[in-house]
Amino acid sequence: MKVLIVGSGGREHAIATSVAKSPRVDKIYCAPGNAGIGQLAECVPIGAMEFDKLAAFAKEHHIDFTIVGMDDPLVGGLVDVFEAEGLKVFGPRKNAAILEGSKAFSKDLMKKYHIPTAAYENFDKAEDAIRYLKEQASFPIVLKADGLALGKGVLICNTLEEALEGVNSIMLDKKFGSAGNKMVIEEFMTGREVSVLSFVDGKTIRIMTSAQDHKRAQDGDKGLNTGGMGTFSPSPFYTKEVDEFCHKYIYQATVDAMAAEGRPFKGVIFFGLMLTPGGPKVLEYNARFGDPEAQVVLPRMKNDIMDVMEACVDGTLDQIELQFEDNAAVCVVLASDGYPVAYEKGFVIEGLSAFENREGYYCFHAGTKLTEKGIVTNGGRVLGVTAKGRDLKEARANAYKATEWITFENKYMRHDIGKAIDEA
Ligand code: AMP
Ligand code: GLY
Repeated sequence: MKVLIVGSGGREHAIATSVAKSPRVDKIYCAPGNAGIGQLAECVPIGAMEFDKLAAFAKEHHIDFTIVGMDDPLVGGLVDVFEAEGLKVFGPRKNAAILEGSKAFSKDLMKKYHIPTAAYENFDKAEDAIRYLKEQASFPIVLKADGLALGKGVLICNTLEEALEGVNSIMLDKKFGSAGNKMVIEEFMTGREVSVLSFVDGKTIRIMTSAQDHKRAQDGDKGLNTGGMGTFSPSPFYTKEVDEFCHKYIYQATVDAMAAEGRPFKGVIFFGLMLTPGGPKVLEYNARFGDPEAQVVLPRMKNDIMDVMEACVDGTLDQIELQFEDNAAVCVVLASDGYPVAYEKGFVIEGLSAFENREGYYCFHAGTKLTEKGIVTNGGRVLGVTAKGRDLKEARANAYKATEWITFENKYMRHDIGKAIDEA
């Protein structure tokens, strides 16, 4: 098979690493890819939003199977463009990717189908949101821009004043662009967060092993929200009881709800869950693998990823059982100091070769670029260093050891990824 992967981050590097393991695959292309992906795949300089160019490339190079890793092209309808050209492609169509693309849509869906989530109201006018906040809200309260905002469109507001400022920045100043044309205001919940990824074929859902992300920039969950500073898998807080509850009230219910709405979902549904005192609730859905969740979940998956993804497209996922290794993995993101606000890039990265032929260690590239000087930093999140271990403690020690193999001038990381497991 010839496979094309669309995207350029650590998640796509993790997907490419799994695809490369499949004996069914003899050639991988990635658009646009990055320096690490380039070691496994041929990177092609086509952007993820250049739908016509991507489809033309896939036809010209006789691509058998395309995997869309990123949210923007999914929400924008890349899968529909490929399908119209008769190309086989993994990911939800535009009318299903709305599960991630519009928080107002996903909240209404959950309400209609009784899927547990925080109480909320949707707004498309700032003055209505302001009136609601002044008359009915209790604090803290959560404001969410409706559309895609790089994981940064959520504001937790402790006072009315903060919330009014939030409405201003989302709906009037358009801090997140058109993502703020609508807004959700929802109840503040407390509890542990868990990310659960799944494969879906329109009808059947298969749950992957659990993971947990660390979204804040600094140790102790301080600082600004980022795309994710590190992950561990499995989550010790995702117990058998939680799993049973979610199977009963959340997973299949979501797949059935999408089908009933005439929006059958094929691809990956990412359930962002909060384990509240009142039981697990859905914080958000994503229509793709998490980044950096994929970097700890996929290395532990035993199945041939091509078999699973093809079953999703063909509607035969009921014939697949997912299998995961009975171990653990931790991913520590090496970022550029200053991320997510302002940072320098273009620094040479040393030590990458230490990962070659080391079983159980991975260095997934996120923001890197190959230049005449060698591989240099090219983004806020630069690398994701993943290590496995027999349990979370060992995986964590291994991952932090491996972070020392890499050096670049403004290297920054959190030192407490997976620390929560000590409390489990
Ligand atoms: P989201 O992009 O919807 O996952 O939100 C980003 C982060 O904001 C989540 O990972 C939570 O930490 C936090 N968050 C979102 N919604 C709520 C809520 N209703 N209550 C408390 N925290 C929330
Ligand atoms: N790690 C969270 C996300 O991918 O949205």
